[in-house]
Amino acid sequence: MKHIKILSLILAVVMVAAMLGACSGKTTEKEVLTMGTNAAFPPYEFVDENNKVAGIDAEIAAAVAEKLGMELEIKDMAFDSLITAVSSGSIDVVLAGMTVTPEREESVNFSDSYATGIQVVIVKEDSPIATIDDLADKKIGVQTGTTGDIYCAGDYGEDAVARYDNGALAVAALQNGQVDCVVIDNEPAKAFVAANEGLKILDTEYITENYAAAIAKDNTELLEKFNKALAELKAEGKLDEIIAKYIKAE
Ligand code: ARG
Repeated sequence: MKHIKILSLILAVVMVAAMLGACSGKTTEKEVLTMGTNAAFPPYEFVDENNKVAGIDAEIAAAVAEKLGMELEIKDMAFDSLITAVSSGSIDVVLAGMTVTPEREESVNFSDSYATGIQVVIVKEDSPIATIDDLADKKIGVQTGTTGDIYCAGDYGEDAVARYDNGALAVAALQNGQVDCVVIDNEPAKAFVAANEGLKILDTEYITENYAAAIAKDNTELLEKFNKALAELKAEGKLDEIIAKYIKAE
């Protein structure tokens, strides 16, 4: 009997100690903000020489996390799995040069917009394709699940698009002659053309798209906090500063 009492006393002490430990751990550790992206989309996100995800989106997310007193963690994943990942809660937020579309808005909430993008067409310098009107009957390389993919499949048919895991692979397919052109956002297009010989971008009149962060529908608390932090970054000139670091004015 005496032994049992002592044992349960020891047990109680151990449990209280463990609880105290857990609590004090929480107060010192920062809450984590997990951002999902697809880091093959320069200058918005790319893997740098230190094997870290860098770029405009990574820096915006880091600045927002700092304002929220949170620690940023970045997960690199397939672009077409980002919406599911954020709506299922396996990541908190998507920053991926992601265009706000009505279809995506059915699954997630978007923050206020932080940048704009335009879908453009990359061709070989000697390509017979001169304008968008020449795209009919051509093979178009796109990144799976992007607006470029969705628009082209809609306008020219499923058979016209060749889907790749990222823009760089679509551009490689253009170089190899597997596709006749690549439809992708203007800033990554510029980066890919600069990094590859013999390519050019057509002058196009496509619609300007808005980029925003995607957050789960039920996480309105984070949406509000994100928008507030973003507004502050805009007001402080910090957002322009981040963008100007990666996109040089022409
Ligand atoms: N803006 C396009 C879209 O939302 C392409 C974005 C691709 N982003 C990326 N990180 N690969 O569909």
